[in-house]
Amino acid sequence: MTELNAMLPFTPHPAHRDRVVVSDAFDLLRSLAPESVDLVATDPPYESLQIHRARGTTTRLTTNWFATVPNERLPELLREVYRALKPDRHFYLFCDEVTADVIKSQQGVGAVRLPNGARRCSCGFTYWKEIVWAKTTLDGGKIRGGTGYHYRAASERILFFEKGKRTLNDLGIPDVLMAPRAGVPGPAVKPGAVVRTLIEQSTLPGELIVDPFCGSGVAGVEARKLDRRFLLGDIDLAYLDPSLADLAPKGAVVSRASEVPADPREPPMLEDLVEGTASDEQLEAARACGWLDEDGAPSESLEKLLALRPKEREAAIRRALRIEAERAGEPLTLRAWRAWALSGRRR
Ligand SMILES: C[S@@+](CC[C@H](N)C(=O)[O-])C[C@H]1O[C@@H](n2cnc3c(N)ncnc32)[C@H](O)[C@@H]1O
Repeated sequence: MTELNAMLPFTPHPAHRDRVVVSDAFDLLRSLAPESVDLVATDPPYESLQIHRARGTTTRLTTNWFATVPNERLPELLREVYRALKPDRHFYLFCDEVTADVIKSQQGVGAVRLPNGARRCSCGFTYWKEIVWAKTTLDGGKIRGGTGYHYRAASERILFFEKGKRTLNDLGIPDVLMAPRAGVPGPAVKPGAVVRTLIEQSTLPGELIVDPFCGSGVAGVEARKLDRRFLLGDIDLAYLDPSLADLAPKGAVVSRASEVPADPREPPMLEDLVEGTASDEQLEAARACGWLDEDGAPSESLEKLLALRPKEREAAIRRALRIEAERAGEPLTLRAWRAWALSGRRR
């Protein structure tokens, strides 16, 4: 049960400024009154990330930062976004090439075009095109190659959808947006410059932007600078930009806003904790974070982690360590595990 369930339906009011909630993205979208939002710009944890992880091309991608949203739920995502948007509004969806293909095929976006060159989606949107975020060096001078071996991936896609008709604010902006990677900790954080362009293009001051997979909350950071309102949601606010921490619900852990602890160290295999074969420091840390009781018996939370398939376990362990508030005087080993949960490094 997320905090939003208690307040359905949620109608963003022009006088209510910005909000950050802990919520499943689908719950958040469903909770929104129809035609209540001016722009959705979001970046779901798409399933094809698993392909990159399986190939193991980079440390970042081989690391299970977060659970992914299966492809079969993408039509529901588009449907809910369409419902929540006011007429004559835009929707931007960050994804990679693989997911772009999946979405187009799900939405029946084929070769047939409307007279204006756009294409119809089965959910009601008009699909215009892929905008490309070209990843540059820090000074913006050159494209900087990334992962993969058949021409290294140095770009990401942003699918541009329209509900009804809304003219972009600046018709001179190209469909390749150049910007360096964000360079801040977090799951695939998008650069402020790219998100800012999307907001500037598709909203006016005072309008409401929603990002239900907000991660660092970059959409909120940029919306605030541009005097737009925002509603952000994520199941895990650990990586929320510290400037938004005051909007996070009470009790939500915003790790980036707190002091980053110790050198990262990965916890041992959970089975070693249960069998007591882990080191004394590790057993002490497991007791301190509530995975083991004083007698060394596994707690309910540890049992839940153990019940997960190994593939899903790492993301769940990271999340458990991130979202639980740090307690004063924690053992160093537990602080090191929390640092690992934030850092994304593997053993
Ligand atoms: C690719 S990241 C978004 C990064 C963000 N655009 C940024 O620039 O920081 C995807 C986010 O979706 C979140 N997430 C995963 N499953 C979710 C769900 N079911 N509902 C809401 N958020 C979810 C993850 O915690 C992660 O922060």
